[in-house]
Amino acid sequence: MKKIVILTGAGISAESGLGTFRDEGGLWAQHRIEDVATPEGFARDPGLVHAFYNARRAQAARAHPNAAHEALARLEAEHPAEVVIVTQNVDGLHEAAGSKAVIHMHGQLSGALCAACEHRWDAPEAMQPGDPCPSCGTPATRPDIVWFGEMPYHMSAIWNHLREADLFAAIGTSGEVYPAAAFVQDADRHGAHTVELNLAPSSVISDFSEFHFGKATEVVPQWVENLLLG
Ligand code: APR
Repeated sequence: MKKIVILTGAGISAESGLGTFRDEGGLWAQHRIEDVATPEGFARDPGLVHAFYNARRAQAARAHPNAAHEALARLEAEHPAEVVIVTQNVDGLHEAAGSKAVIHMHGQLSGALCAACEHRWDAPEAMQPGDPCPSCGTPATRPDIVWFGEMPYHMSAIWNHLREADLFAAIGTSGEVYPAAAFVQDADRHGAHTVELNLAPSSVISDFSEFHFGKATEVVPQWVENLLLG
């Protein structure tokens, strides 16, 4: 087996205390997507959007990786195959667990972006409307997060990894958001074995050849253990 590609979603960080989006009481039950996760919402009320991400940034800074993140880091360290994580999550828990090959397709809470010159830097704890860009000075700073209607980051690298995957796994994602929800079809079309590890069947469960339902901290370590035992 040469390459393992793993897509992760909010469910892998749920047991680290970070809310998911579409579960009961999730983030999209508390906030309107159009207000806090679109360029239009940011243009309308940047203070509301910064407050939303400042709160999530503070929560993520207090969170710790759980057994599922740690199992994936062990897989990367010990499995002879190349292991790449493509995460929809914007927390830094994969890296905190020790994973190195992590692609953040929706950006990161730890990043700030200048909408004027596209300069990127480490986000301060709290960002405010009108903060000047440290490079061009324009007061156009925003969280380095991909919002609805924007193109996810690193897509060409992701498609290449999916084409080369021998094993594709999706962990903790509802399969509600594209293009991530279609990654399984692309990996399958190129001959990968596909596995879903999730608390409940995702919207695209029928696209997978294998599945393990349960909490990520239970099913992911077991799945990694079996892979390492070969
Ligand atoms: N263990 C495993 N899976 C879990 C757990 C858990 N402890 N808790 C919840 N889940 C599963 C849920 O069953 C659900 O299928 O995680 C999934 C979370 O789904 P969403 O809340 O939709 O999160 P995600 O799939 O990551 O959303 C994708 O949507 O809003 C955008 O940009 C945002 O990256 C996000 C994208």
